[in-house]
Amino acid sequence: MSDKKLWSGRFSEPTDAFVEAFTASVEFDQRLYRYDIQGSIAHATMLARAGILSTAERDSIIAGLERIREQIESGEFDWSVELEDVHMNVEARLTSAIGDAGKKLHTGRSRNDQVATDVRLYLRDEIEIIRGEILRLQHALLDKAEQEAETILPGFTHLQTAQPVTFGHHLMAWFEMLERDRDRLADCNKRVNIMPLGSAALAGTTYPIDRHYTAQLLGFERPSENSLDAVSDRDFAIEFSAAAALIMMHLSRMSEELIIWSSAQFNFINLSDSFCTGSSIMPQKKNPDVPELVRGKTGRIFGHLIGLLTLMKGQPLAYNKDNQEDKEPLFDTVDNLKGSLKVFADMIPAITCKPESMREAALKGFATATDLADYLVRKGTPFRDAHEVVGKAVALGVSKGCDLAELSLEELRGFSERIDADVYSVLTLEGSVAARDHIGGTAPAQVRAAIGRARQRLAGQ
Ligand code: ARG
Repeated sequence: MSDKKLWSGRFSEPTDAFVEAFTASVEFDQRLYRYDIQGSIAHATMLARAGILSTAERDSIIAGLERIREQIESGEFDWSVELEDVHMNVEARLTSAIGDAGKKLHTGRSRNDQVATDVRLYLRDEIEIIRGEILRLQHALLDKAEQEAETILPGFTHLQTAQPVTFGHHLMAWFEMLERDRDRLADCNKRVNIMPLGSAALAGTTYPIDRHYTAQLLGFERPSENSLDAVSDRDFAIEFSAAAALIMMHLSRMSEELIIWSSAQFNFINLSDSFCTGSSIMPQKKNPDVPELVRGKTGRIFGHLIGLLTLMKGQPLAYNKDNQEDKEPLFDTVDNLKGSLKVFADMIPAITCKPESMREAALKGFATATDLADYLVRKGTPFRDAHEVVGKAVALGVSKGCDLAELSLEELRGFSERIDADVYSVLTLEGSVAARDHIGGTAPAQVRAAIGRARQRLAGQ
């Protein structure tokens, strides 16, 4: 049986079969069904209140739409490519189920404002879910950071040992990145949560609709101000994609560190077997596939952002069919972002660190050289001179194959008379981290304070 097209009135020839499939979006936009039905129920409710539909028509439409929702959810709904998209599939089914009242649902609206509304409702929900996943990951990081507030590892710049830091401090750096990410999504949602419905095709509608009422029914902040803008711009989706790209960029950086740390060469952490896989040829291998895959997925999310920007850039006002292409990249972004956050939140507790190897690495790279310079400054040497003196001491260490703390007092005094026996306390890793004792510093006491403030911030939300 052929499904009659809802717009076929002015056409005398059928659509070319390939064009029909090529222009259809139902295969992917059917995932918007819940929002499409939610929007239609609100629209019908408003139309009845405005006297455009009778209450009987309204009730019949709502019951019909709810029935369709059940059919979709139980897998009984037959999606038709001939009916092009989710909107016309639902509407056609409604009319065949309830008769003429169904044909009145589309009064005072167009698919253009309908689809823009559906996507915004969808994204608003997904943003909430994603923010929840970020929060779960943040809690996992706080717990781990608390456990590892005193664990020392080398901090790097240029991936060269720079200064000792605490592992808790490192994990709290990740926490901060995610805090900004979560905030960015909340901000993005302010612009997502605006209602296009009522803009109709592009210019508004001649019916006495009450957009404020519909917006209230759907939980939107307000109706959009300009109908041309509301049906056409997808900047809200692009902004979400940009926020998603930043989150993935952060997860990718974290992945990179996890991968490096779990290598035999670093040996800083152990990733539990449940987050790794083996090799089909090399029996000894345990590969950090999960962080690698997250790092890899970052590429497609960046790609979707550029795809959406490019999709929009050439479009004149108002709606153009180009916009149908916004959905697949957006859905793929949401799915992969959620998946990556979920796997990360599950994986963090499954990381065990190897404090002995971390310590050994920190002891190797002259990580306390800055501490020695600061020591000399406290004893009256200008910083530039101190830098020079310590550089020479490091050169001696390199030639002898030992760290600064392993040089004798006599050797050290050969570089500066100001060095006394108390120097060894600043050359220890513990002394080095404990000395960075101010807000934002790596001292264990500061890491604990930062965790405390973070927990408070999260509890207040
Ligand atoms: N499937 C379309 C989309 O995703 C719905 C809007 C179609 N509007 C139109 N005038 N052809 O954008």
